Amino acid sequence: MVSVSVLNLEKVFPPNVYALKDVSVEIGDGEFLVVLGPSGSGKTTFIRCIAGLETPTKGSILFGDVAVVDVERGINMPPARRNVGMVFQNWALYPHMKVFDNIAFPLKIKKMPRREIEKRVKEVAEALDIGHLLDRYPRQLSGGQQQRVAIARALVKEPQVLLMDEPFSNLDARLRVSAREFVKSLQRRLKITTILVTHDQHDAYALADRIMVINNGVVQQIGTTDEILNRPANVFVAQFFGDPPINLVEGVGRGDHVDLGDLKIPISAPEGRLQIGIRPTDIYVADAPLSPGDVQLPPGKIKLVEYLGFTPIAVVKWEKTELRAVMYSKLREGDSARVYLKKEGVKLFRDGVSIENYN
Ligand SMILES: Nc1ncnc2c1ncn2[C@@H]1O[C@H](COP(=O)(O)OP(=O)(O)OP(=O)(O)O)[C@@H](O)[C@H]1O
Ligand SMILES: [Mg+2]
Repeated sequence: MVSVSVLNLEKVFPPNVYALKDVSVEIGDGEFLVVLGPSGSGKTTFIRCIAGLETPTKGSILFGDVAVVDVERGINMPPARRNVGMVFQNWALYPHMKVFDNIAFPLKIKKMPRREIEKRVKEVAEALDIGHLLDRYPRQLSGGQQQRVAIARALVKEPQVLLMDEPFSNLDARLRVSAREFVKSLQRRLKITTILVTHDQHDAYALADRIMVINNGVVQQIGTTDEILNRPANVFVAQFFGDPPINLVEGVGRGDHVDLGDLKIPISAPEGRLQIGIRPTDIYVADAPLSPGDVQLPPGKIKLVEYLGFTPIAVVKWEKTELRAVMYSKLREGDSARVYLKKEGVKLFRDGVSIENYN
């Protein structure tokens, strides 16, 4: 297929909405990139620029070594010539057309011969397990079936790049899981360079080779799931990822510990004001340490116990500081608790930026 290079992309909507600011990313041939960010962060604008539905105000995009848009050089290839397949957030099937005609639509526009159209539509419909539905109207399909029709329509012209904007947003939790599996295995089989936009971190974990995190039009971090979870570039990324969410507290680094005021955390830390991030899975309440390297904190009090999925999580309180921690003991609210910390899981930030990157 083809790689996609995005270089210093900027999109300003008049008068001065900066939807994208200096976005650069290399998407490898056959790679699956998930773009993740909160509402209004620029995700849709980003893939619309790649599709050619939006013209950037600065920068360039290359498919392989062909520039599809380059503002400085005045290049802007029309969408139809870019050969991308796009699945929109609301799927946007034509209600008055049968499934066959919905899928065939991009080929009819290209004036492909009828025979070739029939062959292609049947092939892609079989692959997506909707071959028996070609004679129905969209309203006669389930949500998951409609979604597959939308994907079939994006794939039928054999695009070199597949773009999907929140394709699972209309599916219930169970369908979402099977839709993810389906999209992932299809992408692996076709080895098609794919960019999927979502605000759901679980979509990203399930699908991504790499994740690009964006906020206010600015790229926060690009990396594998492991890098994003374990080495967040800044406080925004640390807080956006992780379920249950990370504990984030202010403290002062003192060389061999971090001082939270009412609690000293015995880890090495540079001098000065810091933000400390500890995932609830890296701190726990138990009668004894689970691994020899884990450090014991002064005892805290169990303020309450809540369930996240099947995992009990305690809110442990010291004088002022409160931290969520996984529960491995049968204590109750009000009990005094032994708390242990996995040192290697602690993340330190200065002015919101990971101290690994701070200089
Ligand atoms: N045509 C437009 N004119 C003016 N501003 C726009 C236009 N389209 C988008 N914007 C603004 O650009 C910013 C990015 O919008 P975009 O649709 O890319 O966000 P998003 O990340 O896709 O959000 P969501 O998760 O809600 O779909 C927002 O502030 C939005 O209001
Ligand atoms: Mg959007």
